Amino acid sequence: MFSDKTRKYRLADSREAFLNNFNAHGEYIQNFPFGEVLFVKKEDEIYAFINDCPHQGQKMQGCSIENGKVICPVHQYKFDIETGRGHGLFLDFYPLEENENGFFLLRTYFSWFGE
Ligand code: FES
Repeated sequence: MFSDKTRKYRLADSREAFLNNFNAHGEYIQNFPFGEVLFVKKEDEIYAFINDCPHQGQKMQGCSIENGKVICPVHQYKFDIETGRGHGLFLDFYPLEENENGFFLLRTYFSWFGE
């Protein structure tokens, strides 16, 4: 009855094609039914997380990534890339997956009804 569900959102035909969306600062923003996601490209990695800082709700756009942490541009709170944890708050990160059907963002959420 109660369960965690994972939904996949198709981003592009491939990871390579998706990279064309990024601006010169290595950022790309896309809206989803659950909110605005900020994609940040750093070296060979792409990170995806909600574009609202859990501290005061400011945009994460313009953040920096150093030593495994995403740093909010407003008050410099740091959030761990692996866990999302930072200063007793959590930033929602989303795994990305490439397979033969395209490039996807995965979002896991809690469902009361198992749907
Ligand atoms: S709004 Fe991000 S650290 Fe304050």
